[in-house]
Amino acid sequence: MTNTRFGRLGFIGFGKMAESIVSALGPSSETEAFRFISRSDGSRHRGSERGGIDCSDAPEKLFGSADTVVIAVTPQDLDDISPLFSQPPDALIVTLLAGISTDRIRAVTGSDRVCRMIPNIATAKRRSLVGMCFATTTDDESRERAHLLAAELGTPLPIPERLMPAATGIGGSGLAFAFRFAHALALGGVAEGMTYEQASMAAAAVLDGAAAMLLDGRHAAQLETDIASPAGTTIEGLQRLDEDGFTAAVMHAVRAASKKARSFEADLS
Ligand SMILES: NC(=O)c1ccc[n+]([C@@H]2O[C@H](COP(=O)([O-])OP(=O)(O)OC[C@H]3O[C@@H](n4cnc5c(N)ncnc54)[C@H](OP(=O)(O)O)[C@@H]3O)[C@@H](O)[C@H]2O)c1
Repeated sequence: MTNTRFGRLGFIGFGKMAESIVSALGPSSETEAFRFISRSDGSRHRGSERGGIDCSDAPEKLFGSADTVVIAVTPQDLDDISPLFSQPPDALIVTLLAGISTDRIRAVTGSDRVCRMIPNIATAKRRSLVGMCFATTTDDESRERAHLLAAELGTPLPIPERLMPAATGIGGSGLAFAFRFAHALALGGVAEGMTYEQASMAAAAVLDGAAAMLLDGRHAAQLETDIASPAGTTIEGLQRLDEDGFTAAVMHAVRAASKKARSFEADLS
């Protein structure tokens, strides 16, 4: 029953993100350790369908058994769940709420142990970037436990809280930018005579290889230079990419998404 990596896991809210985390971590004997509180019969039903996860309306059941409680409602629902925290919980609180500060979560939950995470939908494949920061009051053991959970979901990126909007821009929205790049790469293949299916699989394999090499810790600019042989094919393509504004366009996209995330933080604070 006990999950030795990050403790028994509970959820408040069982929507897309909670479901994606549960499907990433289970099914296993540890699935028995999941427990969640939800609002409607629909999400209760979805939750119990996914490996018999125990759903309850009683906060004392959730807080009595979970070592880590993931808040997975939408930011607009935060006020609605505040009555659940009539007693400050012992559990580590992991909040997924975009734009809501750790200070606000501490105030709502009464907990000093708060980790804020920004995952993306690649959680389901355990390949998400997980931007994460902590309330300053969070103890070391809780930080370690949150880090282990993030590592199960993909690549943890511990950052100061002021950089969470940037993590949203590069990690949350950046995944969509990567899909747009994959689509463009595939269209290039189609223009050269491949079917879209062939070109799309080729683009996926190329991105997979690029990600694996980058995750080894190598520098993108160095890898790019290694590929581009003198007077070869790659340098021709790289020149065209930048003549067409590729680098500036991607930087603008990350900055625009991060700016929007900052404006959400300001609106919600
Ligand atoms: N989706 C993403 O890619 C993504 C990425 C990063 C962060 N996030 C963050 O993750 C959080 C969840 O996102 P999501 O996409 O999973 O949202 P979602 O699919 O709308 O799920 C929200 C869940 O919260 C439940 N809920 C709402 N009010 C409740 C209450 N008072 N008591 C108990 N449960 C309640 C809803 O229940 P019902 O189904 O019964 O209404 C639903 O199951 C958000 O804060 C979002 O900012 C999402």
